Amino acid sequence: MLAGKHILLIIGGGIAAFKSLDLIRRLREQGAEVTPVLTKAGAEFVTPLSVSGLAARKVYQDLFDLTDEAEMGHIELSRAADLVVVAPATADLLAKMAGGHANDLASTLLMATDKPVLVAPSMNVRMWEHAATQRNVATLKGDGVLFVGPTEGSMACGEFGFGRLAEVPEIIAAIDAALSDGPLKGKRILVTSGPTHEPIDPVRYIANRSSGAQGTAVARALAQLGADVVFVTGPADVPPPAGVNVVKVQTAAQMLEAVQAALPVDAAVFAAAVADWRVASASGSKIKKVNGALPVLEFAENPDILATVSQMTDGRPPLVVGFAAETDDVIAHATAKRARKGCDWIVANDVSPETGIMGGTENAVTLITETSAEDWPRMGKDAVAQRLALRIAEAL
Ligand code: C5P
Repeated sequence: MLAGKHILLIIGGGIAAFKSLDLIRRLREQGAEVTPVLTKAGAEFVTPLSVSGLAARKVYQDLFDLTDEAEMGHIELSRAADLVVVAPATADLLAKMAGGHANDLASTLLMATDKPVLVAPSMNVRMWEHAATQRNVATLKGDGVLFVGPTEGSMACGEFGFGRLAEVPEIIAAIDAALSDGPLKGKRILVTSGPTHEPIDPVRYIANRSSGAQGTAVARALAQLGADVVFVTGPADVPPPAGVNVVKVQTAAQMLEAVQAALPVDAAVFAAAVADWRVASASGSKIKKVNGALPVLEFAENPDILATVSQMTDGRPPLVVGFAAETDDVIAHATAKRARKGCDWIVANDVSPETGIMGGTENAVTLITETSAEDWPRMGKDAVAQRLALRIAEAL
């Protein structure tokens, strides 16, 4: 897929810059051409010689390098590529991009380009979580900039959290998706997945058995058709797919907030198994065992995320798809659910224990629309996801 593609790779300053060397290697192995641009800070972490050696091309560094301007102006440089990739993208680079600065070669190229831009952020967790960075990220997403990562993990600085550069295969999958001419290219699609965890106290929670397998497969299938996928996931058993923007949440309330923050989208698929109830007032400290006395939990109803989004009067996604797991009278119940919640389609399945579907690898679904109920044969969850993604592509 990458053969013959031309990538302009901007390497920002950061300890993760060394991974850009591997990225260049892997991209070239797949037949892509890589034109590297090294920021001043980037050059503190990797040498121009190793970058240009691996890219087998000149590395561009300075806006005022007259030789470069004579050979190829910065406007041309920014547009000769099929895709501009920024990896690692520092907090500073994101701020410059969001603010429209053009005071060095990298920021000028990013302002001048007419090509899609994919950024792979990498920074300390506090810097990533800082309100300013989050504001900049939201602005850039609104501008259509694509993101891969950051991921969660331990950092070179000794802290733990979000801020790690996405792994090279993940960046390549995102590049692939960004360059794919799939039918969903240019479409932004939200997918919810996994269970939610509703706290009882700081160490206990209420959950369900959803593995997140079907939602993850849907997100992957949509990304493979070229969609820009926002994947809002509860604590699932399976890792999120490569090449999507992952938002991790724990509770239904957090999931609703993340979903609302992701709007507007062209379509939304609600595959998460959201807990219907939460503990009305979760204890701030661990509930103690007191002789003979049993704790009493009072419940409160969680927001219905699917219904909330389906019934939006302003900014409702043009296509809203829900899932319905039923154990009896599947079609009748799911048809009523579609009407009650106000979504466009419901993917209904029978999760009676004898079907082995819940937690299994296969699914047998019925796609219910306003006018039809279409039975699909039993197939792998990936195949269900691919078929659903194609249907979404046809509908958008
Ligand atoms: O009502 P039920 O839970 O069976 O509906 C299932 C559908 O509704 C799924 O698409 C699920 O993601 C969504 N849902 C939701 N928020 C809830 C409960 C369910 O989005 N609180």
